[in-house]
This record gives sequence, C-alpha cells and structure tokens, in this order.
Amino acid sequence: MAMVGVLTISAQNANDGYDMMMSIDLSSHEADVSSMLYGVFFEEINHAGEGGLYGELLGNRSFEDKQMPEGYRVEGDRIIPPVHTNYGTGKQSECNFPWPKAEIPDWILNIGGEAKATMHTTTNEPHFSTAPTTLKVRVEKTGKGVSLTNAGFWGMGIRLEAQASYRLRMILKTTSKKPLVISLEDADGKRIGSTSLKLKANGKWQDEVLTIKADDACSHARFVIEFPEAGNYDFDYVSLFPVDTYKQRENGMRRDVALMIDSLHPKFVRWPGGCVVEGITLNNRFEWKKTLGDPASRPGEYDSWGYRNSYGFGYKEFLDFCEDLGAKAMYVCNVGMACTGRTGEVCKEEEVETYIQDALDAIEYAIGDPTTVWGSVRCKAGHPQPYPLEYVEIGNENFGPIYERRYNQFYQAIKARYPQLTLISDYGLEGNHTAEHLDMVDPHWYVEPERFFRDAYLFDSFDRKKNKYEVYVGEYACNDGVGTGNMLAALSEAAFLTGIERNSDVVRMTSYAPLFERKGDRAWPVNLIWISNEQVVGRSSYYVQKMFANNVPDYNLKTDISIRPETEHEALTDYDGYISIEPRPADWQMAEDMKYGPGTIVEFKARGNEAYTFYWGKTKQNLEKALALNIGKKTGALSIDRVYWNNAYPYVSQPIDVPSDSTTHQYRLEILRDGIVCSIDGSEVWHYQTPLVNRRFAVAGFDKTRQEVIIKAVNASDEPCKMHVNITNGNVASIGQAIILKADSKQDENSYDRPFRIYPKEAELTGVSPSFDYPMAPNSVNILRLKSIGQD
Ligand code: AHR
Repeated sequence: MAMVGVLTISAQNANDGYDMMMSIDLSSHEADVSSMLYGVFFEEINHAGEGGLYGELLGNRSFEDKQMPEGYRVEGDRIIPPVHTNYGTGKQSECNFPWPKAEIPDWILNIGGEAKATMHTTTNEPHFSTAPTTLKVRVEKTGKGVSLTNAGFWGMGIRLEAQASYRLRMILKTTSKKPLVISLEDADGKRIGSTSLKLKANGKWQDEVLTIKADDACSHARFVIEFPEAGNYDFDYVSLFPVDTYKQRENGMRRDVALMIDSLHPKFVRWPGGCVVEGITLNNRFEWKKTLGDPASRPGEYDSWGYRNSYGFGYKEFLDFCEDLGAKAMYVCNVGMACTGRTGEVCKEEEVETYIQDALDAIEYAIGDPTTVWGSVRCKAGHPQPYPLEYVEIGNENFGPIYERRYNQFYQAIKARYPQLTLISDYGLEGNHTAEHLDMVDPHWYVEPERFFRDAYLFDSFDRKKNKYEVYVGEYACNDGVGTGNMLAALSEAAFLTGIERNSDVVRMTSYAPLFERKGDRAWPVNLIWISNEQVVGRSSYYVQKMFANNVPDYNLKTDISIRPETEHEALTDYDGYISIEPRPADWQMAEDMKYGPGTIVEFKARGNEAYTFYWGKTKQNLEKALALNIGKKTGALSIDRVYWNNAYPYVSQPIDVPSDSTTHQYRLEILRDGIVCSIDGSEVWHYQTPLVNRRFAVAGFDKTRQEVIIKAVNASDEPCKMHVNITNGNVASIGQAIILKADSKQDENSYDRPFRIYPKEAELTGVSPSFDYPMAPNSVNILRLKSIGQD
C-alpha cells in the first residue's frame, strides 16, 4: 500500500457536533484477538485453480477430461449423476451439470492441404493405470502440415512474457524419427517461441522435459506440436508451466495470483472445499490419495462445479503452499455424505469406517512419524518434516441426524490419535446438537448487506457460558443484491469484521469465500479475486480483507462508542435488484423482472378483491430474500415484509381501506430511495419508509509488538462522519498512520478495466493527541495506527 499523502488532523476537545465518539481506555485489556483470525479458503470453483492459481497452461493435459464419474451418463452437453435419496430432503434429487461437447477437449488436430491425419483417445494402452487415457495421433500424409494445438484455459491461462521460460513435459511414444517441432503461437498463428523434441523412435514411452522461451509477450497464446513426418504418435501427458512459479516450485502456482494471497499473510488455508469435498455423488468427492505422486499419474476428477480438476494442485501441493505462505493447514474431510444441494447421497453405515480411515490417513500423511505408513509416503516425496496441519474439519455443510452421528464417530477417532488437532464441526451457531465434544463450529454466511450491518453486533450477545465452543466463520461474503460485488458489499463485510474482532474470544478464525474467479467461469456470483490471462484483480472486498488481516491487534481495548442517533434510512435502491409482481395482473406492461431504481413507478389495474405480492430488491435467483409488498384483500391490509430465510426484517403492516369490490382500480407504486408510496385511484394510501439504520462501526485494539493502538472504523453512509477519538489512561504520538479504502459511490467496484478504482491509500496523520477528530469519508473503511507513548 503506497503512502500517498499527508492528512493533517487537529486535536480538539469533544463537543456535541460529532457523528461518532470513541473513548478508548489504553490501560485496559479486553479479549485477546486471535492471531489466527484471518485465513483463506481455497476451493476448485470458478476455475480457481485450473487456469487460475495452479500454474498449468494446457487444458486436458492428461487426456482424461471425458472420463465420467462412475454411474453417470451424458445427454447432449449435460452430465447426469445417478439418482439418490437426498439425506437433506428425503426425496430423490435429480440434477445435471455441464459436460464438454468436444470429443477431445482443448486439443485440435490441424490438417493442412493434402495432409491426412486422425486422432482419438483410448484407455487400452495406459502408461499410468491411474490415468489411463492416451491420445493417438495417426499421420498418414503430412501434406501442407499436420499439427496438434492446445489453447486451453482461455488461451493458455496467462499472458506469455517476452524472454520468459516455460517448462514443457511430454510423455509420448512413436517409431517416427524426425524431431517434433514444438512452438508457442499467438492467436494469429505468429510463432513466438519454439524448440524441437528428439524422438527415441523405439515405440516405447519417453518422458521428456524441455524449456521453451517466448520471444514476445502474448495474451492469448496457443501451444503447437508439429509432425514433420508420417507415423503414429501416442501422447500420455503434455504439460507446460511457467518456470517462474510462486517460490519457483516445479508443479507450482501462478506467481502473480499466489502473491495476492501471500500479501494477505493468511494464518491458515482451508482446503479442498466446499462442495468439492462432498461431491455431486460420493463417486466424485475429492479424494486426496489420488492427488499424490507424479502429476502425470493423477486421474483428476469431474468436480462439483462442472469441470475437471486435474488434481495437479493436490494434497502435497496444498501442504507445500501452506508452508510457502507461512500458514497453518486446515484439511476438510468427507464424512460419507455428498452435497445435499446436489444428490445428497450418503454411504452405508458399515462404510463409514473407510471414510474415517481416509481422514486419519490424510492426517498421518501430513504430520505422521516417518515410520508410519503415510508418514513414510510423505518422506519419500521429499518432506521428512511434518507439515503444519493443525485443523481438520469434519465434513462440509452436512447436517441432520446422520451427520450428527458421524461427527461424533470422526471426532472420537481423530482426537484419540491426534489430541493436538483442533477439530471443526459443520454445526452453525445453534448449539451443541448431539455433539459429545465440540471444539469449534463453522457457520457459513452468504448474505445481503443489511444482514452484515446488523450482524456486526451478533457476537456481542453470544452466550459464552452456555456455548463452550469457539467459532470459525469458514465461508462468508456479502453476495446478494450487490452485483458481482461492489463497495456496498465490502463496507458491510468490514462492519461485520469489526464485530468479529471485538468478539475474537469467540470467533477465532474467518475466511472469505469463494477466493477466486477465473475470467470465463463464474459458477458463483461474487468472488474475492478475479483472474484473467493478463491480470489479477482484487475486488474492494479483497482490500478489506487485506487491511484487516495486516492490522491485527493482540488484544482489544475497552472502547465506548456513541453514535449520533441515525438519520439515515435503509436504502432500498442500494440493491441492484429486480421488481416483479405475482400473480401478474392482466394489464401488466413491464418486462418480467424489470430492473428498478429510485423514482421507478409501477402502475397496474386490479380488482379490489384480488391479491398481489409485489417484490422488489430481489435478485432473480433469490426470491426468498425479497422485500415483498402485499396488496389487496387476501391480506386485508397493505403490508411489507422481507422474506429472508430467517425472517429478520420487521413486518410492517398498514391497515387501510383497500377496495374490496370487484371493480377495477388503478394501483400506483413509486419507489423511493428509502421507501415506497402506494396510491390507489389517484389517492396516496400509504407512504412506507424503511427503518433507520446504523452505518457506523468501530473497534479498537492494541499491537504489543509495535506498541500501537489500532482503530478500525467504517463509515458506510453517503455522508461524511466526524469521528472524535478520546484516549484515556495513556498517550499517543502526534504522528500516526491512516489506511483508507473509499469509494465515491457504494455501487462502485474494481474491474479488469479499472482494477485499482478502489484501493487502500496510506496517509500520515499529524496532530494526533489523546483527544482528536478524524474525518471519515463517506463510504470508507479506515484503519488508524497510533503509537502509544506511555502515560499522559
Ligand atoms: O463457496 C462456495 C460454496 O458455498 C462452497 O462450496 C460451499 O461450502 C458453500 O455452499
């Protein structure tokens, strides 16, 4: 974060003109803030790894992409899993997922002029039995040229850099002699780097590693193998990586992407999911054992998010990555339950032991003694020391009596052998259920902004006596009604995090989700970091994460905050929602799911004895989270309510004399920024205004190493906030530091075109004293670091 300017603030005494006053007792020592509070969660979703973080540049490198999970079938471009009785719903769940149409995805055989050549895949002559598919290219006649190209991952996933080197590994066999010409081309076919591969020509598998240098930069490249001679060429594996991966690892991560995580200084990495842990069915759940060893031998798996995971970023790579980041590892295991949002399959009770053993083996691989079975596998893989695995999560988003029983079984078995591990359960905040022991629970929240603004205070009233467990908020994001994620989302997350930090005696860990979205695959609506061939873009939420994670105090300071009574009402039009009406009146002229904004007027005719529900602020996908206006005789009143899944919004009802006859009336609804005006037959019958909302949040703590007070303050209002800080029982230096993230509008966001539109800026604070004013900009997240200089 660059230092961009000097902000002078003036010391003053408190008076009545403040929007927010903080009184911080520097001699106090409230709850310790968990040093593990901020981590990351990686899941193979949105091509987060494949074509994203993981450095492989070629798609379908092992030719396994058309291998289906057992029991699945294909219809057109969809893959259909077998039907199971869903443990969540008790019903048979039918679902289908995308399936590539191309016979051999990502590979194209180019036949020039009179040339004759064919290609097909087979599993008849595997080089690795675990990854059995090979590609057979038959070149009968070279004519004007025969070549095989791969432009997978949207043009080889990254921008090739001039003078950069790329590591090619190819496993092939042939009896032809003339060396293959291997090159990198731009999208117009201009060669930007090449090498040649000598052939052993003995019909046996040869495993070659070569380096190709790019002469020019290229954002959309393709990889080309040219066949100068007729013959049979079998390929088992063709892989290309940048040599310059993160920490220079051979099967490593794309450097610029990994550095985005690195600069969050995450204290832990949760892996591998998420829904991929569970699988669509148990047959395609994530299986760590299949991710070990030579990447060329790994089968990969069609994953829960609709594409193949090559298993290149496997268990060992994850553990190495944790070490490279200086983070602890958190492994999430499957409990014999598939995702309830998909098929909800569960394994038979007698099979549970196998799943428990699999989890124990994973732990043994990471931290077991070299004399153990899996510890020795780790040693052979070049890592005799244990990895920093400290957390194991038992299942992901599983629930119900089956989960509760299995949780106890897993807990007992793992704790008995590894008492030092923290075991995490899927339970939310609702208590112990039937858990015999509960170290930590993992609630997940994907919500609309209002929920996080409100939940900034959620843990203040957490019953610490009753609930003895700690909390890990393993997945959370404001992702509803905020487009692809905007400053409003970031502000609400920052507000939520002030509450988390204040209550860090309870909430010990957090991780935003999902972490990555590769350009071209948005399986999930809002994601923290966007990756394209050329760019890695942090959304404003990313910078909130970075600011909070890089400024963690050791403990909280006693802080009294008074906020001027609010004057701001909840803004309905902050949400980029849609309006619709159900049922549709006969004369409804508007498009289905029309976008709205302040001043939108909806008019329609209806009979007095008809009833309608008018929705706004809804996203197309989330009807159950809409605001609803009930009109007409069915309800007997005009009423408004938000039908969140937790029904948290106040239900407001206005008994008015709604016409109950069968004549037709003219309804008019006008949407305001903070309310709605309803008129019937030209007379205003109800002016509803949304409740007043708090938009200012703060927390303060102390950093023992740097002897600094850290204040985190959020102003999620469109108005500036005059904050007064009063430090008691101590003194602070006159020069401090501010880090500020702000946007002109809540709807603003970073994008590929404007990646740094919202970016934290550092400023020097001058004129600091134990009693000073700090002007908080509208829509801003602020971190103030003030040097403690002892007693005043
Ligand atoms: O983060 C995306 C998904 O959300 C995760 O896979 C799952 O755990 C949750 O439902």
